[in-house]
Amino acid sequence: MSHQHAKDVSMLDPQVSSDPFDFYALLHQQSPVYQLPETGHYVVTKYADVRRVLKDHASFSNNVKLADRAPFADLHQSILRDGGGWEHVQTLQRTDPPQHSRYRRLLDRVFTNTRVREMIPYMDEVVNDLIDGFIDNGRCEFNDDFAMRMPGIIIAEQLGLQRGEVATFKRWADAMLGVSYSPIASEDEIRANAQTELEAQIFFAEVFADRKARPQDDLISAMINAYGDDDEPLSMHELQNVMRQLINGGFETTQSAINHGMWALIRMPEVAAKLRADSSLIKPFVEEVLRWESPVQFLMRQATKDVEIAGTLIPAGGLLMVGFGPANRDEEKFGCPHQFDAERKNVGAHMAFGSGPHFCPGSLLARQELRRSFRHIVARMDNIRLAQPLPTPVHRFSLFFLPMHDFHIAFDKR
Ligand code: HEM
Repeated sequence: MSHQHAKDVSMLDPQVSSDPFDFYALLHQQSPVYQLPETGHYVVTKYADVRRVLKDHASFSNNVKLADRAPFADLHQSILRDGGGWEHVQTLQRTDPPQHSRYRRLLDRVFTNTRVREMIPYMDEVVNDLIDGFIDNGRCEFNDDFAMRMPGIIIAEQLGLQRGEVATFKRWADAMLGVSYSPIASEDEIRANAQTELEAQIFFAEVFADRKARPQDDLISAMINAYGDDDEPLSMHELQNVMRQLINGGFETTQSAINHGMWALIRMPEVAAKLRADSSLIKPFVEEVLRWESPVQFLMRQATKDVEIAGTLIPAGGLLMVGFGPANRDEEKFGCPHQFDAERKNVGAHMAFGSGPHFCPGSLLARQELRRSFRHIVARMDNIRLAQPLPTPVHRFSLFFLPMHDFHIAFDKR
């Protein structure tokens, strides 16, 4: 690899996007801000540059306007509108300060340390219930039986669904994340997705009304009732949009981190043994999992003016792929960045949850979900191994995330 040139490697190659780390190392050496030949996007890969982009919201906007709008985006909107739902509006992740600050104040009042701590016994119960479901079989399909269900159940129940409805919730989440803005989706797919999203919107509108009248001890009640003194309450359009972002932002990311943590334990049984012997190592282990194979490898920003980063001029309107994943493998920040080190000293500096005004509001929740999961996994499962080889490439194709396929494991019950 070391004699290769970045230009000879394509990020659109499913093998490269599934295992992009050698490519990142090439970019760090040869082209820290790299314009993708296929799409024209500017890929930012160095830790210091990524941090700078995330903090400078005046130059690098989250209100990204794609020139090649998906052909059926308007159709999607009209199905929502005509079906009695709510069209998409730009909130939160797609806004810049000062508009962004209003949404953030609300969320920061909801996802507090105290609230997340209070959820620990409940998380333990969910984790142990799921493990109970397969522990006597000595095997499971980990992706569906645990990694998807754990965060799925937590967020679905916090948003007003019952535990048995996690499959419905997953269907909604897939539709919301899905194809509505994809340039390659067919009209039928768009119609089906918009109908599913409409079903979710109508359900949530009822929950919003119910929790406004009768607040419960859940996130959705906190969100509806958490206006600051100076803030306009969110409109139904805004609430629906924030809800969509909580589902999009919090579900597949946590699922991916749980999958990658499990895969790390399988690749490094000595790490599993250490965690089993000393549960205080679970916390740094989880952080290293997030650094090493970050669930969000990239997200977009758009330059508001001509700006130079590391000698590369990004013209006004240029689209950036901001590399959380590659920043976390930058050897100038992390010694031996490609090595997994469960006791890495500066692991807390990783950017898997971003940095600056959009820093992930769900990070406390996600971290606690991961810690509770791995605490019980190592306590109850030993000699964890693959029951079937993983497919090649290991990940489903994505330029932005690292989603795993089905993942069959075997283990000894402890
Ligand atoms: C391991 C799990 C997670 C990872 C790796 C992750 C990663 C990220 C990253 C990198 C950002 C920054 C986006 C940007 O700079 O534009 C972000 C934002 C966000 N995340 Fe997370 N996240 C995770 C879990 C969650 C959870 C559990 C929730 C909620 C239940 C959540 C909700 C959000 C929301 C709403 C935003 C947008 C915030 C804003 O724009 O101000 N995330 N997340």
